[in-house]
Amino acid sequence: MLCSLPSIAARNIRDNLRRDVYQVQEYLGVDNTNDITVLSLCTGYGLEMKILNLYAGIGGNRKLWRDEHAVTAVELNPEIAKCYSDFFPDDKMVVGDAHQYLLENYKGFDFIWSSPPCPSHSRARYGFGVCGHGYKYIYPDMALYQEVILLKHQCRKSKWCVENVLPYYEYLIEPSRILGRHAYWANFLIQRKKFAVNGMIAGNTKAPGKISSFHITGEKNYLEHITGFDLDGYNGFDKRKSLRNCVEPEAGLHILECASIDGSEVETQGDLF
Ligand SMILES: C[S@@+](CC[C@H](N)C(=O)[O-])C[C@H]1O[C@@H](n2cnc3c(N)ncnc32)[C@H](O)[C@@H]1O
Repeated sequence: MLCSLPSIAARNIRDNLRRDVYQVQEYLGVDNTNDITVLSLCTGYGLEMKILNLYAGIGGNRKLWRDEHAVTAVELNPEIAKCYSDFFPDDKMVVGDAHQYLLENYKGFDFIWSSPPCPSHSRARYGFGVCGHGYKYIYPDMALYQEVILLKHQCRKSKWCVENVLPYYEYLIEPSRILGRHAYWANFLIQRKKFAVNGMIAGNTKAPGKISSFHITGEKNYLEHITGFDLDGYNGFDKRKSLRNCVEPEAGLHILECASIDGSEVETQGDLF
């Protein structure tokens, strides 16, 4: 089973295998098929991918990806980047601006994941913060839509996915799928799926008043348990924020799985010209 096959044959086997799994899922009406087993089988055929993981954070979306993939991560904050590299030592880490890196490097990857910063789009910040508590209004950061447009038009040969929170305004470009608290733009079909931890990360885990619940009420343990990251021993960045920023690891895996299944030709506006 664990052999390398010529790539076309291997790809057919992988696609058939995954289609079968999803057909069984649909037939049974369940959505808890063991993705790791499927991925293990697939990577057993030597089907590792070259992946770009932009705005990597501590690696929530990357957590359940197999180490066989060749992952390049980009993160601006050196302390967060160090933490990510400790968790995923085989990934190549670029400490720098992910937006610029994408512009200069979008051609070389099988799969691109991007998680541009979300505060300027977030319903929570706008609703509770700006409207409720007088936070300063900030312009929505158009890097999100710039990246979606770049990828839609220029990234025809690889799969890509851009993730963000649900915005307080109407989408400028409709997302391909909403899963829980995140919207995803992608050039492949993302299957519907529910994630048990979703609401637990998104819920208000901060204690009222001035006391930081992060250390005192056990919120740190709680978030670490849910995301599977242990941040003890790390300093120099906001650990609560990094944990709460995490995409549910199961969602990260599910989306990579979907990218691997869907073999359809990608249509882009560029086709018109
Ligand atoms: C929403 S979080 C990413 C969460 C990550 N996808 C996960 O699941 O854990 C955004 C991250 O992007 C980083 N960041 C912000 N601006 C950046 C930039 N211009 N280039 C690279 N990283 C940036 C932040 O430090 C933060 O760690």
